[in-house]
Amino acid sequence: MNWDTRFAHRTQQMKRSTVREILKLAVRPDVISFGGGLPAPELFPVERIEQAAETVLAERGREALQYSTTEGMPELREWVAARMSRGSFQIDPRNILIVSGSQQGLDLVGRVLLDERDPVLVENPTYVGMLSAWKPYELDFHAVPTDDDGLIVDALEPMLRQQAYKLMYSIPSFQNPQGTTLTAPRRRRLAELIVEHDLPFYEDDPYGELVYDGEKMPTVLECEAAARGTTSIDDCNVIYAGSFSKIMTPGLRVGWIAAAFPVIDKLVQAKQASDMHASTLSQYIIYEVIRDAGFVENHIAKLRQVYKGRRDLMLQTMAEQFPEGVTWTHPTGGLFTMVTLPEGMNAVAVLEESVKHNVAFVPTDSFFIGDTGHNTFRLNFSNAREERIVEGITRLGQVLKEMLVKA
Ligand SMILES: Cc1ncc(COP(=O)(O)O)c(C=O)c1O
Repeated sequence: MNWDTRFAHRTQQMKRSTVREILKLAVRPDVISFGGGLPAPELFPVERIEQAAETVLAERGREALQYSTTEGMPELREWVAARMSRGSFQIDPRNILIVSGSQQGLDLVGRVLLDERDPVLVENPTYVGMLSAWKPYELDFHAVPTDDDGLIVDALEPMLRQQAYKLMYSIPSFQNPQGTTLTAPRRRRLAELIVEHDLPFYEDDPYGELVYDGEKMPTVLECEAAARGTTSIDDCNVIYAGSFSKIMTPGLRVGWIAAAFPVIDKLVQAKQASDMHASTLSQYIIYEVIRDAGFVENHIAKLRQVYKGRRDLMLQTMAEQFPEGVTWTHPTGGLFTMVTLPEGMNAVAVLEESVKHNVAFVPTDSFFIGDTGHNTFRLNFSNAREERIVEGITRLGQVLKEMLVKA
């Protein structure tokens, strides 16, 4: 059978990334990888999770190993709803759907909201995992430019006046790949535009808790509720996605969607057909860990402290080692900085060279809408230990200097 002639038309948009093939090399222990969006494994609360798993299996083993409801474990939904509630803006657990990692939220929202060739607004660059999930719908992506303060909301306004859009996708806090964050005034203006133009908006927020400078920003969802003067998410257009991956562990695959009930209801129908429910055991274990409020706050504080130190060290080493003409973002949280090389330089060529020196990263051209971004790449600062950050950035600086001389 020649399977290539049998695959559905939509699979033409599905591709293995060539960069992933290069990055396969990066799993070797001698390679210093700034590639994946990986949390620091030494900070996973392994003992807590071990104790939680024992307790769950001893006390609720039969439930935890059984099929369960698609919406998710009731206590976990209550916990998420309470954590997302602010003042009079109270979120009800019926507005929460537990998903198998927030990546599944993208897949499900694509299934229930997007038709072929729908016009969809995105930041440029944007999260490549969203593009993988939604590209099979052959969407008409419209790129909104960004700067150091995130999405340029003033550039969005004329676009919204010109035509209607099916959906807008954005990562307002510590964006992937840029690490940048939408300022509070821009959030408020964006919320006003969402209301004015009745724009459905997907707020992807897996990094929001990982704040290193300043205060945690209000979510666009909270800003929208304030702009509308409502206390109910049922009145809101924002579909919010959160995750336990970056604040606990990605391996258990637990995230959530918060949205107006009709959206949740439709997503439940799509999820039933997809995987019935997120792993019951994972949900029980996560809940057993996080119901200790003191532990959660201490753990997040620890992550912030270590990642802030690693961010500072990486940025400082880049300033010392990277040649003139190379620039990068200065994230105030999250896991990434994005580097821009002088025009005409190609980040994939730099990766091929730096892998020979056992240093890896992710070129970001595939995060861009349109044929641009070839001179950009993403560095992750959370995963590598301090001495490897200094060593890896120093080697990368050397590669860049040599390539710049040749260019
Ligand atoms: C912007 C963004 N959204 C969603 C995800 C998916 O995260 P998870 O499925 O682990 O919750 C990631 C993962 O890196 C991400 O960077």
